[in-house]
Amino acid sequence: MLFNLRSLLRISKLSALFLFGAVCGALMSSHPALGFHSGGVGECEGCHTMHNSKEGTNVGAGGAALLKGSDATSTCLLCHQASNLPGPTTFHVSTPDGEILAGSPPKQLSPGGDFAWLKKTFTWYPDMVSPLKTSPGERHGHNVVSLDFGYQPDGTHLTAPGGGYPSQSLSCISCHDPHGKYRRNLDGSVTTDGHPIKASGSFDVSPAPDAQTSVGSYRMLGGSGYAPKGVGGALAFIYPPPVALAPLNANRSEATSQTRVAYGSGMSDWCRNCHTGNVHNGANGFLHPTSGSASGSSTGTLDSTMTAYYNSYVKNGDLSGIEATAYLSLVPFEIGTSSYFVLQSILGNTPTKGPNSADGTPSVMCLSCHRAHASSWDYGTRWNANTSQIGSNGKYSEEGALYQPYGQGRTEAEALQGYYQIPETKFDPNQQKLCYKCHATLPQ
Ligand code: HEC
Ligand code: HEC
Ligand code: HEC
Ligand code: HEC
Ligand code: HEC
Ligand code: HEC
Repeated sequence: MLFNLRSLLRISKLSALFLFGAVCGALMSSHPALGFHSGGVGECEGCHTMHNSKEGTNVGAGGAALLKGSDATSTCLLCHQASNLPGPTTFHVSTPDGEILAGSPPKQLSPGGDFAWLKKTFTWYPDMVSPLKTSPGERHGHNVVSLDFGYQPDGTHLTAPGGGYPSQSLSCISCHDPHGKYRRNLDGSVTTDGHPIKASGSFDVSPAPDAQTSVGSYRMLGGSGYAPKGVGGALAFIYPPPVALAPLNANRSEATSQTRVAYGSGMSDWCRNCHTGNVHNGANGFLHPTSGSASGSSTGTLDSTMTAYYNSYVKNGDLSGIEATAYLSLVPFEIGTSSYFVLQSILGNTPTKGPNSADGTPSVMCLSCHRAHASSWDYGTRWNANTSQIGSNGKYSEEGALYQPYGQGRTEAEALQGYYQIPETKFDPNQQKLCYKCHATLPQ
């Protein structure tokens, strides 16, 4: 397929859209039945409406890039949210409003997380003397803006903390390139043109790039130079997409086994595309190093002592773990390699393996603590970092009790879903915070 989207995108919007019919006809026949994006640009008609019409109604000229939804996020959610799904299902990342009513958690358990957590606000009394506490929905992650699906911009952070990216403009395409132009090539470089993209590059089973073809960037994330049209060049990304691979079925309950994403390298820098300043230099109240280039004095490397500790830590006071089964998806680490062979072999052979300096230089990174989309907890953390214990008396929540210092207003179903259905019995009945997966001791 020799069509070059970039040259099409360079010519004027109107004439480009005029060409849709012709171009898309050619594109559709070239896409395998399995996927929609297949790591690159999907069928134009999946997102754009032809001939100025929106589901049969004329919308007139000038609708934003003639998208099928009112805005970019709404267009994505036409497919990425669906009603009445039985549970976590493939590529869905949002649960409809009617299915997250009082006490019912969002359904999707993908590594990035279900955006519907942004619509759930929790309140509780921690004890007899404190006032009512609130964990507002907007604190639970990245507030993508969607008119059609009721996602509002963040009202507190007007820009990305540590940077200038406007919250009003935050959408799926702030992070993911809708046209999937970023591709990784045989020599390891990432470019926006060159060889055609043959498949998604996100998975352990993704094919390797070769001399004629490339694969998509991890999750079609934008890289150097990326900025959606409305945002402007000054905020364009500096860093490339992260090196990472996911299992094909990554959206699943972790009740009996964990979902391992092999984070290789570059994730913290990728987040710094928008969080340009060091958000955890202590100025915002929390001091912590992370992997990557802008980490300050510490690189976030897990030294041999911390590596051994991660591998042995099972739960409070239990250090009987072994490297082969040490991985905890609530506290992932970066393997510290840009080799896709290493990532593939870990996912294929020893998916639950803990850190080992033979695989790379293991480090703490942004996603060791946060989810990329949203979570049940404040600041989109993977576990409740807002309290001293993640469990109490063998439960994640004190559902029904007058005072709820740990579950913090979540029902047990909501809290359990917040932990991706990993049973509390995996931990101590009064499990401490998961900083202790890496740290033997912490300053108080
Ligand atoms: C017409 C339906 C449809 C629309 C619209 C759609 N997607 Fe998808 N998306 C899919 C399907 C199907 C998959 C899984 C198969 C695949 O990746 O091709 C998927 C997968 C993805 C993935 C994972 C891809 C990978 O290679 O790991 C990302 C990221 C994604 N979509 C982002 C978006 C964004 C951002 C938008 C809006 C700009 C969007 N999608 C719009 C159907 C859609
Ligand atoms: C996954 C959804 C998706 C698919 C598939 C898709 N687009 Fe787009 N397209 C978008 C979004 C979202 C925008 C708005 C981008 C922005 O604001 O930066 C857009 C914008 C555009 C624009 C306007 C760009 C500009 O700079 O004004 C053109 C032209 C375009 N798309 C062409 C295409 C063509 C041709 C195809 C098929 C080969 C295609 N698109 C497939 C989502 C998609
Ligand atoms: C702030 C950046 C950001 C925004 C905004 C964002 N994503 Fe993502 N998305 C990511 C990252 C990073 C990953 C990889 C997460 C991982 O592997 O831990 C991801 C993963 C995904 C996946 C793969 C499944 C998963 O959850 O891991 C899909 C599908 C997806 N995103 C679609 C979307 C859609 C649709 C939207 C808008 C409704 C969106 N994303 C908004 C950064 C973002
Ligand atoms: C495209 C720009 C962009 C990228 C890339 C990005 N963020 Fe953000 N982030 C924002 C904006 C804008 C906000 C403020 C709006 C909000 O909180 O919803 C924000 C807020 C946050 C918050 C605060 C959430 C809250 O509810 O208070 C966290 C935590 C965060 N980002 C972490 C990350 C991590 C981790 C990554 C990398 C996986 C990342 N961000 C990548 C733009 C970005
Ligand atoms: C060791 C765990 C950990 C790591 C690693 C980490 N964070 Fe955080 N992050 C937190 C916690 C905990 C909070 C809540 C902080 C607080 O209450 O002061 C937070 C808060 C935030 C906020 C909200 C700040 C605000 O002013 O509201 C942003 C943005 C953020 N993190 C982004 C990032 C990015 C980007 C990275 C990687 C460069 C990162 N974090 C790495 C644990 C972590
Ligand atoms: C994935 C492993 C990991 C997790 C989880 C983790 N840390 Fe760390 N932490 C590190 C590493 C690595 C360092 C750097 C050690 C060094 O430089 O010697 C560090 C350093 C620190 C420091 C010293 C910071 C400085 O620059 O002086 C503090 C304080 C800290 N962590 C607190 C926490 C807290 C609180 C949590 C939980 C919210 C946490 N850590 C979770 C790996 C982790």
